[in-house]
Amino acid sequence: MAEIGVIGGSGFYSFLSGARPVEVATPFGPPSEPPVVGEVNGREVAFIPRHGADHRFPPHRVNYRANLWALHHLGARQILGPCAVGSLRPELTPGTIVVPDQYVDRTWGREHTVYDGAPVVHVSAADPYCANGRAAVIAAGNGKVVAGGTMVVINGPRFSTRAESRWHADQGWSVVGMTGAPEASIARELALCYTSIAVVTDHDAGVDAGEGVTHAEVLEVFGRSIDRLKTLLTEVIGQLPKPDADCTCRHSLDGTAGEDLW
Ligand code: ADE
Repeated sequence: MAEIGVIGGSGFYSFLSGARPVEVATPFGPPSEPPVVGEVNGREVAFIPRHGADHRFPPHRVNYRANLWALHHLGARQILGPCAVGSLRPELTPGTIVVPDQYVDRTWGREHTVYDGAPVVHVSAADPYCANGRAAVIAAGNGKVVAGGTMVVINGPRFSTRAESRWHADQGWSVVGMTGAPEASIARELALCYTSIAVVTDHDAGVDAGEGVTHAEVLEVFGRSIDRLKTLLTEVIGQLPKPDADCTCRHSLDGTAGEDLW
């Protein structure tokens, strides 16, 4: 069992001590990889590499439903979702860590809900991230993370055109990624607490007068940020509320047909 789930890059495997893989069969097919369960800062943590251990799943092919269901099944109630994003603002330079408080979902064609038939369930997404999880990241960041901002999630796998990027920036959105949705909304559908931790790897096409972002640049900057990210996550994991602590996220299914379903 685990109390906290992390969905992130395969660089996080080495993050857990005493890690052991656990096979979990889900109603939505296999997760990106069998979760590994181990210890981080005195807490039991389950980790799934979002894109698979060998990065074989592009963002639109990640089985977000299975990943979150598997973590829920293992007992995780707080989920941390570190991800790479492009910056839509000149002041959010590569290496900056942003803790978004909103997202805009521009993805399409993804399996985006666990309520795809009966029972019909509508959850609130007004405040899509866990207030307690965000507070823990902001506190652990000790003034070094950007608290708040809107992440626009594009379908990918291509990056944005300059026009799309300028449009995203003109909306007042802060960062652009490819995996933040439907990961956050499926977590909410399972009454899980979910916190996005977005690492800026590049200036997106409209912000940058240069060549535009490349995959190599994203990998290189994310790779350089991984140690800092692991240090932050270790601190955050120590500060997250205990599993029996109440949270509004836990009540997302109250009064719906999804209550007591999982
Ligand atoms: N992930 C990292 N950088 C990105 C960008 N510029 N656009 C979309 N997803 C990204």
